This record gives sequence, C-alpha cells and structure tokens, in this order.
Amino acid sequence: MSKGLRSRLAQYGDEEFALFLRRGFLKGAGYTDDALGRPIVGVLSTASDFNPCHATAPKVADAVARGVRLAGGLPFVFPTISLHEAFSFPTSMLLRNLMAMDTEEMLRALPLDAVVLIGGCDKTIPAELMGAVSANVPAIVIPVGSMLAGRHEGTRLGACTDCRRLWAAYRAGSLDQESLDRAHDQLMPTSGTCMVMGTASTMACLAETLGFTLPGAATAPAVSSDRMRLAEATGKRAVEMAMTGGPLPRDILTRAALRNASVVLQAISGSTNALVHLAAIAGRAGIPYDLAEFDQIGRETPVLLNLKPAGEVFMEDFHSGGSLPALWRRLRDLLELSAPTVSGETLGEIVARWPPYVDEAVIRPLDNPVFEREAIAILTGSLAPQGAAIKLAAATKELTVHQGPALVFDSLADLEARIDDPDLPVTPNHCLVLRNAGPIGAPGMPEAGALPIPKKLGSGGIKDMVRISDARMSGTAFGTVVLHVSPEAAAGGPLALVRDGDLIRLDANSRRIDLLVEDADLGRRRQAWRPPEKPARGYARLYAERVTQAERGCDFDFLAGEPDASGTETP
Ligand code: FES
Repeated sequence: MSKGLRSRLAQYGDEEFALFLRRGFLKGAGYTDDALGRPIVGVLSTASDFNPCHATAPKVADAVARGVRLAGGLPFVFPTISLHEAFSFPTSMLLRNLMAMDTEEMLRALPLDAVVLIGGCDKTIPAELMGAVSANVPAIVIPVGSMLAGRHEGTRLGACTDCRRLWAAYRAGSLDQESLDRAHDQLMPTSGTCMVMGTASTMACLAETLGFTLPGAATAPAVSSDRMRLAEATGKRAVEMAMTGGPLPRDILTRAALRNASVVLQAISGSTNALVHLAAIAGRAGIPYDLAEFDQIGRETPVLLNLKPAGEVFMEDFHSGGSLPALWRRLRDLLELSAPTVSGETLGEIVARWPPYVDEAVIRPLDNPVFEREAIAILTGSLAPQGAAIKLAAATKELTVHQGPALVFDSLADLEARIDDPDLPVTPNHCLVLRNAGPIGAPGMPEAGALPIPKKLGSGGIKDMVRISDARMSGTAFGTVVLHVSPEAAAGGPLALVRDGDLIRLDANSRRIDLLVEDADLGRRRQAWRPPEKPARGYARLYAERVTQAERGCDFDFLAGEPDASGTETP
C-alpha cells in the first residue's frame, strides 16, 4: 500500500498528476519538501462550539501534533461531526451512525498513515471506533478527559448524577428555585466529559481496555497536565504506527478484547449504553457481541470501582487512585492479559509495570466490593424475546423481583402529556411501560428509559418503580429500569401489544421479563397492530429503514463487517 501523500490519490486517471497537484496545494500552504516527505498522522478533532464537553479538544490536538512532530511525523488536524448529548436533537444516538460513517469515509479518503481519534462525549468514541474498525487503518484514541468535580456548600457535585438528583428534588418540591440556581453553577465546573461513570467515562475505560489508547488515557482530567502529556505521547506513538503500518484496529479488536471489556464494564458499573456500543463496534469486525457471555461474566465480577452513581467519588479520584491499569490488576484472574494494545504492550505487560499504588477506597479489593452482585444483567422472556438489560447496581433490590399491572405510554409525547396528570390511574405497584422509543420507533432510541416517577406518587415519597421500555437510559440515572427491550414495539415486538392492566413479571434473579397474557389474546392484538409511519425523507428515513435492534448495536445493517475482510483501501 502507498504511504504518505502518495496514498489515496484523487482519481484523475493519472496518478503522477494527482500527486503533483496535491503536493502543489500543500506547497501553496507553505509546506517544504522535507515536511511533505514525513509519515502523515491525521488528527481527528471533534472540537465544536456546540460541544462544550470538547472545549479542550483544540489543546489536545495541539499536544498530539507536538508529539507527532517530535517523532518526525507530519500532523494534519481535520474535523468530523461532533456530538454532544445536550445539543443533538432529537437524540445523539440517531446521529452516532452518521458520525461513524463520516469517520470511516474520511479515514478511507485522506492520505494518512495513521490517525489519532480525539473523542469523549458519549457517542463520539463509539462512532470513531466503529469507523476506524471498518476503515482498518492504524488508529489510536485519546479521550478529551473528564471534568473536575464541582464543590458546592460542603458537598462535591457531579454531572449528571447530581443534575438528575437536584432536578428530581426540585420537581418533588423539596428544593427551591434559588438553591437549584446556586448549585447549577457548580454542576459542570470545568470543560471535559461528565466526571461520574456515565457513558463517556464508561466508553473511555472500555476504549482503553479494548487496547485502543495508551495506558492511563481514560482517567486523566481534561484540564490536567497529565492529559496533555498523554496527548503528546499519543502523537509520538501514532508516528511509530504510521511507519510500521500497525497494529490495525482489527488486530486489536479480538474476542478476547471484547471479553475484557465485558469484565471491566461490570466491575466499573458502567453505563448500559456500552452494551449497544460494544455490539456496534464488534459488529464492524464481524464479531457478534455475546450478551449471554456478558451476563455470565457479571455473575463472577463484583463492582470494585467506588465511582458515582454506584459509589461515592469521581473520575479525578480514579485517576489519582491508581487509574484503570490498577483496576485491571485487581481483575487479573478474570482478564485475558495477552490481549494486545496500540501501545505495543499487552494488557498483562502494562499491569506488570504499572505503579503499585492503589487507593483502596476508590478501587476496592475483591473481598470488599462496592456492590456484590453484577452491575448489569441481561433479561429475556415473553416481553423481550431478543433480550433486554437492567442495571442492578442502580435498581431498588426489592423491586428486581416484582409483578404488577402495566400502565402504558404509547410514545414520548404521550408520556410527556400524561405523566404528571393528577388523575393518572397509577399506584406504586404499577409497571410503567414506554414504547415506540426504540431505534426505529423514536427514531434513535433516546435516553428516555428512566421514566419520571409520576408527580402524584413522587410528591408522596415514592422514588422508584419498575419501568420498562425499548429506549436507553443515561449511565448517570437510577431506578429499577428495564431497557433495550427487543424487538422494539415499532418492529412489532411484544411490547407493542401490552395494554393497561396486563400483568408483567420481572424476575432479575432468573433473568426473566414476562408479559402474563394468553397467546391467543396476543394473537388477536397482533392482527390489529400496524407499524408506525417512518420519517418521510433524509437521514432519519435511512435510519428507520436500516437500523438494527439493540442486541446488534443499532448500527446500520449494511455496515456490519466480515470477520476476515481487511476493509483497507476498499472504496
Ligand atoms: Fe458530554 Fe456527559 S454530556 S459527557
């Protein structure tokens, strides 16, 4: 394969002319022949004024470029779509696949010998890894890093666990507007990604565990000097990868690496969103992500990381308390330590040389876990034949085995219109059901699964109820919430047939979620069911027509990879 500026030439039918033209434009920008002969490292920057989590991305890109130059390479910083959770209508998940396609196509189109992927906010690292695995060019991830924790009136605050807690208190009337406003200024006190174990922190930890970052890259705060040193080192390592042509993403993304990611996802009590993203990333390499294996791993893996929302502290404490390799050391008997990483070291080699210090209050020993059960369990049953997920670490234990009547909301609009109706016929025993909020139905599977507790119950002190949907849930949320029900209602799954008053039984111990309605009744209801209309045009139409269900990662069916296809240089 050609390297440097000679690679991926524009097609004029005359390669030498294409190179002459390309070099001419760069000479016009002031580059010397010396510069143009160096290994080229693309630096994918997701800086955007609409993405405050990535406000430091330009600084990270500068530090990466410094590392590239120090190692004798030539950096080219380039943009892709950038997604922030609060700036992506109707939901960032709808746009994740578009960002993955943008990333993949730019990696196929640009003359780069290796690429550094700067990501962070929830969907960005998954999208970058999906694109990189498909394009299969040497790629290394550097997360932007997490925010520092806020300090407010004697407590530490974290986005967005405390955003939700404070908002719930405000809704229930136990927090006034003035107090809410004062706390608001301290919820996100610096730039960076949410500093609790939400999806961004989870995906940074999983990217590092899969082997796609340098060690320690998941935890250094966005505004720390460690972050900038890691960025510089990442740039240097990218030049080595550019010169040797590897490792390639598909050398890194193995079944062993995915099993390691499953172990760490359970041990950090990570976001359930990671299940969808891991399935999508694995799918790009033609590897089915094994949810049954993930569930089995959970039975052997306690939660060791004492981070909010399951625990007490924040990402900056995880970093100073030993960082991710110190957690791997705790989990070494459960991990496949021979798995390679982009650093050139295996997981085991990193563990062996990592400093011995560990803060046991942050990274707990195996005999003193934060949560003895598995963090996340996978359910199946007559309501979710293809699966569903529940975050046990965020649930009320007594509700994880529960039978109650359904109260059904047909859509997000229906939920918003009725949930606070004083006449809503709801009791604490009800199972709240939200449907048509899945990948096709919403579309884009928004984080609406943690339905708000109806005001008439919340103001009476009810804090949790069984909630069931085909939507997702933020990694920072709490509750006995059954998510990712598959097939979703809009695809004709049993969720579409539930009626108010039907009995639903959740038994997380036996991994079941069942709709207790006779088959004959369901058959009659199915005959009357009609699929909802799909969006009329554009990307949303493509999404609704080709998106897969949660267990396959909600990727587009036509983007799944073959296990042995290299993908390199394929137009
Ligand atoms: Fe960007 Fe939480 S909103 S990481």
